[in-house]
Amino acid sequence: MLERISQIVDEAKAAVGAATTSAELEELRIKWLGRKAELPNILRGVKDLDPSERGPAGKAANQARVELEGAIDTKMASFAGAELELRLVEDAVDITLPAHPQQFPGGLHLLTQTMREIEDVFLGLGYGIAEGPEVELVAYNFDALNHAPHHPARSPSDTFYVGDSVLLRTHTSPVQVRTMLVTPPPLYVIAPGRVYRRDDDATHTPQFHQIEGLAVDEGISLADLKGTLLAFAKAIFGDEREIRLRPHFFPFTEPSVEVDVSCFACNEGVSNGERCGLCKGTAWIEILGAGMVDPNVFASVAGEQPAYDPEKVQGFAFGLGIERIAMLKHSVPDLRLLYDNDIRFLEQFA
Ligand code: PHE
Repeated sequence: MLERISQIVDEAKAAVGAATTSAELEELRIKWLGRKAELPNILRGVKDLDPSERGPAGKAANQARVELEGAIDTKMASFAGAELELRLVEDAVDITLPAHPQQFPGGLHLLTQTMREIEDVFLGLGYGIAEGPEVELVAYNFDALNHAPHHPARSPSDTFYVGDSVLLRTHTSPVQVRTMLVTPPPLYVIAPGRVYRRDDDATHTPQFHQIEGLAVDEGISLADLKGTLLAFAKAIFGDEREIRLRPHFFPFTEPSVEVDVSCFACNEGVSNGERCGLCKGTAWIEILGAGMVDPNVFASVAGEQPAYDPEKVQGFAFGLGIERIAMLKHSVPDLRLLYDNDIRFLEQFA
C-alpha cells in the first residue's frame, strides 16, 4: 500500500512537470485528485484497514495528497505569472508615439485673439471694459448719438430692425451712451462686441466685431486722441509705426477723423520695386474712425448725469473693426475665411 502511494506521487509529479498549459494542469488535478482518482479512493478506504495499517497508510496518503496539490498549485502560479508577462509585452502601447492622424488640439479663434490683444493694450493704458446689448434701442444706437432723423444708416435697407424702436446695433457706439448714463466722468473705457449691418460681400459680413473707445475728462484734446491711438498702433502693428489723421464725418464726433497707420509691408508705398498691394502704393492704411465727442452727445446724457456738462468736460471716441485689424495684421485675403471654420485656416493661428 505504501509503495503504491509513492508510485502514484512519482507518476503524478512527472505528469505535472510535463504539463505546458494551465488547462492541462486542471485535467491532471481531476485525474489524480478527483472523486474517481486512486489516491482519494485510498484515503476513503483507510478506515476499513487493519488497525495496525491505518496510521501509516492514512498518514502517507494524506501527505501524498498535500504534496500533489502543492505541485499543481505551484506550477499553476508559474503559468499565471508567465501569461501575465506575455500579455504585458504583447499589449504594450508606446505612449510617446504621435497619434495618427495628429489632431488639432483646438485654440482661440483669430478674432478672439485679436480682440484680447487689443483689450490688453487699452487695459495697459488704464482703460476699463464696458458692455452693452446687441439688441439695442434706436434711442441709444442713433438718437442719443446725434443722428439726423433721416440719416441713411437708419434705413431698414441698411439696418436690421426688431421693432419700431429696437434694432440689432449697427456699431458699438451706443455703449458710449449707456456707460455715461450710469458712470460719471472721468471715464476711460473700451467696449468690444458684435455689431450687425445689412451687408454681405468679400469685405462685409452681416455680423462683425468692433471695439469702441471713450475717454471723457477735463481738458481732453485731439492731441490726447492722437497720442492714445499712436500707442495702440505701435503695440499692434510694430514700434516703427506712425499714424495720421484725416478729416471725416461722424454724427457723434466733432471734429471727426479717419485714422491711418503707416504701411508695414512696404517702403513709401513700394515693395520689391512694385506698387505695394496692401496700401495700394499710398504708404498708409486706414484702420479706424474717431473724433472728439460731440457736445450734443454729452447733452443727451446730462439729464441723468449732470457732470457731463459740455462746458466742463471734453472727450474723444474711436471705433475700430476687429476683423479688419486681424486681416491686416495676418495678411488674411478674404473676410469670409474668418467665418468658414475651415480647420486648415484656423490652426495656423492657434
Ligand atoms: N461707430 C463708428 C462706425 O461704426 C466708428 C466711430 C466710433 C467713429 C467712435 C467715431 C467715434 O463707423
